[in-house]
Amino acid sequence: MKYCIANWKMNLTIEESVLFTEELQKKDLENHNTQIILCPSFISLKDVKKSFLNSEIQIGAQNMHHELEGPYTGEISVKMLKEIECEWVILGHSERRQYFNEEDIIINDKVNTVVENDLKPILCIGESLEQRNKNETFSVLEHQLSTALNKNNIENSHLIIAYEPVWAIGTGVSASINEISQSIKWIKEFLLEEFSLKIPILYGGSVSSSNCIDIGEIDGVDGFLIGTSSLDVEEFYKIYLNMNER
Ligand code: PGA
Repeated sequence: MKYCIANWKMNLTIEESVLFTEELQKKDLENHNTQIILCPSFISLKDVKKSFLNSEIQIGAQNMHHELEGPYTGEISVKMLKEIECEWVILGHSERRQYFNEEDIIINDKVNTVVENDLKPILCIGESLEQRNKNETFSVLEHQLSTALNKNNIENSHLIIAYEPVWAIGTGVSASINEISQSIKWIKEFLLEEFSLKIPILYGGSVSSSNCIDIGEIDGVDGFLIGTSSLDVEEFYKIYLNMNER
């Protein structure tokens, strides 16, 4: 199975989100080898889910609180997501790490809550440019993975890892084929050795219809987490089509 995941971040109103889903539904989405997952804002989730009730398209949240309930003003719980039949949750996105001080230890709690409550985590990891320039890429990935997955019941969790080098996100310039290939290979080997896990690894960071074929051909890339290019239904669909044609 390949994954084509849209991370809309803080974009698209409810109305715009529903319009997107209506346009997407008009297209031929018959290839069952690629799973589309749309991750709109919290307030659009329910409406987006409603428009996909009889479809194979799934939805994901962009974040979640690790506690089940309580005095956490402004937060969303796993129960609330389950109630609207949200299947997936993006965790540890670099923007959450950078702007909301999310640390690996909190991400670990979140992975735990998601897994224990039968939702599916999309865990984002990736190095900054500074870390890459200091040759710290693999040690950063190792730290992020081993902390976030520590003491989790992840064997049957449908966990997906998205490798997203921070410096390639939203810049219009993706990481090179070589850089992606090395990191994905390292992540696969590490997960197998340390956790006996063989799970999908996606790439994210300036994926577009013009680079998705080359990146998708890299050995071990099981799909994409797409930000900017997922906001335009035609561009997103082109990426999905290119994945299907391979
Ligand atoms: P981008 O975002 O495609 O705009 O680089 C990817 C992401 O942050 O998930």
